[in-house]
Amino acid sequence: MTQSPDCDVLIIGSGAAGLSLALELADHAKITLISKSALESGCTQYAQGGISAVLGEDDSLASHAEDTINAGAGLCDPDIVNFTVSQGPERIAWLIEQGMPFTQVSDSENNLDYHLTREGGHTHRRVIHAEDATGQAIVSTLSPKVNQHPNIRTLEQHIAIDLITGNKIGHTSSRCLGAYILNLNTKKVIVLRSRFVVLATGGAGKVYLYTSNPDGATADGIAMAWRAGCRIANMEFIQFHPTCLYHPDAKSFLISEAVRGEGGKLKLPDGSSFMNRFDPRAELAPRDIVARAIDHEMKRLGCDSVLLDISHKGKDFILKHFPNIYNHCLALGYNMATQAIPVVPAAHYTCGGVMTDKYGRTDVEGLYAIGEVAYTGLHGANRMASNSLLECLVFAHSASIDILPQIKDIPPPPNLPAWDDSQVTDSDEEVVVSHNWDELRRFMWDYVGIVRTNKRLERAKRRVDLLRDEISEYYNNFSVSNDLIELRNLNLVADLIIRSAQQRKESRGLHYTLDYPEKNPHTKITILKSNF
Ligand code: FAD
Ligand code: SIN
Repeated sequence: MTQSPDCDVLIIGSGAAGLSLALELADHAKITLISKSALESGCTQYAQGGISAVLGEDDSLASHAEDTINAGAGLCDPDIVNFTVSQGPERIAWLIEQGMPFTQVSDSENNLDYHLTREGGHTHRRVIHAEDATGQAIVSTLSPKVNQHPNIRTLEQHIAIDLITGNKIGHTSSRCLGAYILNLNTKKVIVLRSRFVVLATGGAGKVYLYTSNPDGATADGIAMAWRAGCRIANMEFIQFHPTCLYHPDAKSFLISEAVRGEGGKLKLPDGSSFMNRFDPRAELAPRDIVARAIDHEMKRLGCDSVLLDISHKGKDFILKHFPNIYNHCLALGYNMATQAIPVVPAAHYTCGGVMTDKYGRTDVEGLYAIGEVAYTGLHGANRMASNSLLECLVFAHSASIDILPQIKDIPPPPNLPAWDDSQVTDSDEEVVVSHNWDELRRFMWDYVGIVRTNKRLERAKRRVDLLRDEISEYYNNFSVSNDLIELRNLNLVADLIIRSAQQRKESRGLHYTLDYPEKNPHTKITILKSNF
């Protein structure tokens, strides 16, 4: 086993959070950036609608903060909200400096300006975007710069298994010293030592059967931080996006909220509108309300989907605003310019995560968490659309400000123990892993989904406990693989979601339970403390 050369900062994850942090640090520090897949993986690549920031003349920071707090249903941390929205314009300017091709429009005097769209919960147009593929534009702007920077080493197809902290290896300090990483090409586990470790691993969408998230969204960072001793907050608040395309070959393709922002209407199979029966803001109510209304109508009518109709805007408008969504739907047989398209809700975003302060610092010294993996206090009980990419950029920047001046004072970590695989053999029963994956995602969808009850949560808890024993026996006896690492993490995080949901004896934001349909006026955030 080789001990890799030291780096100053090990960044785990190459989405908006990881890529921007790497670039912010690299002129002054040696960075290793790892991704379990290609650099262009993660949810960022799939983001459509855009990034929220106060850029319009009629908008204000106070309004952005107020909308965020309203969407968050009483559980946002106002200091963090103000901190985040106030950094928005500067972070967007930074992205533009990097070459980000945001969509521009010309006014009546032919002056070019950035186009701002609207999404649910926002009282102003404040979502800056690159057509309807903002995430792809972020990744293709930042990743070549990361690849070319002499101080950044990128390791693709490398999956972090666990963090190494001082107390786990018999030191007096509990500082994070590095991580065990499986090279998915060679199947060998290496040790990476680093002065600082940053989790930028994204969320937990794959814990549910139906999700807008790509395959790697398996909550690895939340699970690793929990095993390293960090507190995890608000995991009951899983956001379901109201409109994913309903089609057997679509793999939950997202239909951006901006489609409703630009006039799209939700309809029942008979063509009638229904959102104004649920909220005066109708299609532009926050996501929790729209997703619950759709779920309610689908269950009431026994239908598989509802319809989203923007055909009244005409082909030119649709092609100008949503070229990628239009073409994707057309390839699957739906012409948005002439017909309504079938949509369903799907798990989309993890509002809870590893507890951090405004610099991304976690409970473990030397360990940071930024982006969707983190709980910063920004989103409360429900994230407002397009506030996630903003959070990635803002906290990548603040973590860099915190880390840089410390680097010279932190000694390089000592040699760390090699990965011990002397007791394991190669598995001859991979079916156990794939079966457990399917089972877990199905019962989480059925029992811990948009509408919950005490009984459903108890059922889910019994199943997650059974799976934990089976997975841990398997993990102790067989060589690690990508699927096994992800399954172990997903099951742990499913347990955290269920336990958090069981603690919340009220309905608020994204957590809705038939047993406690009202809000509790003395509410607070849910914090789970790790015993590791
Ligand atoms: P990700 O972009 O998810 O990146 C995670 C990275 O971590 C990946 O590189 C992955 O390979 C790596 N990784 C994970 N685990 C490991 C491990 N164990 N070892 C090594 N590497 C690992 N938000 C908005 O604000 N606006 C939008 O318009 C928007 N649209 C969205 C559309 C879709 C379809 C989806 C799914 C989400 C959307 N979101 C949007 C949410 C937003 O895209 C994500 O919250 C954000 O991109 C998360 O960025 P991140 O850097 O935290 O993580
Ligand atoms: C969308 O485009 O609807 C996604 C926006 C978001 O998740 O913030």
